[in-house]
Amino acid sequence: MDMYKIIITGASGFVGANLTRNLLKTKHQIHIFTRKNSKLWRLKDIKTKLNTHTVSLNNSKILKKKLLEIKPRFVFHCATYGVLPSQTNFSKLIKTNVIGTYNLLQALEECNELSKLVNLDSSFVYGQKYNSIKENQIAEPITPYGIMKLSQTNLVRYYSIEKKIPSITMRLFTPFGRFDQPGRLITDIMKALITKKPLTLFSPYSKRDFVHIDDTINALILASKSPFKNGEIFNVGSGKYYSVKEFVTLASKVSKTKIDVNWKNKQREFDKLGGNGYANIRKISENLGWKPKITIQEGLLKSYKWYKKNIHLYVN
Ligand SMILES: NC(=O)c1ccc[n+]([C@@H]2O[C@H](COP(=O)([O-])OP(=O)(O)OC[C@H]3O[C@@H](n4cnc5c(N)ncnc54)[C@H](OP(=O)(O)O)[C@@H]3O)[C@@H](O)[C@H]2O)c1
Repeated sequence: MDMYKIIITGASGFVGANLTRNLLKTKHQIHIFTRKNSKLWRLKDIKTKLNTHTVSLNNSKILKKKLLEIKPRFVFHCATYGVLPSQTNFSKLIKTNVIGTYNLLQALEECNELSKLVNLDSSFVYGQKYNSIKENQIAEPITPYGIMKLSQTNLVRYYSIEKKIPSITMRLFTPFGRFDQPGRLITDIMKALITKKPLTLFSPYSKRDFVHIDDTINALILASKSPFKNGEIFNVGSGKYYSVKEFVTLASKVSKTKIDVNWKNKQREFDKLGGNGYANIRKISENLGWKPKITIQEGLLKSYKWYKKNIHLYVN
């Protein structure tokens, strides 16, 4: 098997770190882009096996220099700002998702070795939909984050078609599992189960299409090897949805542990905006041969076991 150079932007984040860890199992040379103040707790144990570069997407000069030096065959663009409800700074939303992606695309124009840019998008671009969502359904984002992600994806598509940068966009629904952010639903549930401390949760009836992180990473890797190169968009979800309350109940059931939840029936603003639809996964399954292999119960059990072993990463 040939050895390729692979770059991962946003490698210190939830998805980027899981992808980095997975790709390290291959023979390829892994280069990660992190920032000066990135917290590298997700990559601490594998740090020496990685080629780490300090590159902000907002420094177009250094970004281009690094890309021309490394000459990557594949780039996985996982860097973003706006996944967390607290990340509402408008200027950062534009700077990271739109201008950062534009800088990346500009630099990639000169990288002749590139086989594929895998661009990561979010189901937030669809806005409020309450059904099975197909990729060609009209995107009507109603949050600044959703708007910026749609702009990012449109930019990538433009550069693919007009400037011949081979790319594919993977539109993620709600990935969950190991190394998720502190303060996100799966982490809060797992912490409560393991530490047996009560948990306050909002929006019990908000629904999400949860897809295990291992299935998500497999979809990204399949995308990189696929023949698609004109910025085609593929949903990555389970094709089913569960309410927050159902998710909690299932987590408690599979871990055989009681959970003490103080439910606030009020819907958080953030949950009102995300939409409650679920992914139609026909396109990805027919064209990339991808289907999630891990059921929600298996994913929750895997998460429980992992968080139990690694709870020190989340509680002092
Ligand atoms: N997690 C989800 O539920 C979810 C759902 C749908 C779609 N997605 C998509 O999946 C992708 C990955 O999301 P994630 O959950 O892994 O996000 P995350 O955990 O918030 O990580 C974001 C990453 O982007 C980096 N970053 C931010 N601004 C940057 C800049 N200016 N230059 C370079 N790097 C920068 C961060 O670096 P620092 O560590 O330095 O801050 C971090 O590594 C994104 O495209 C997101 O839209 C995620």
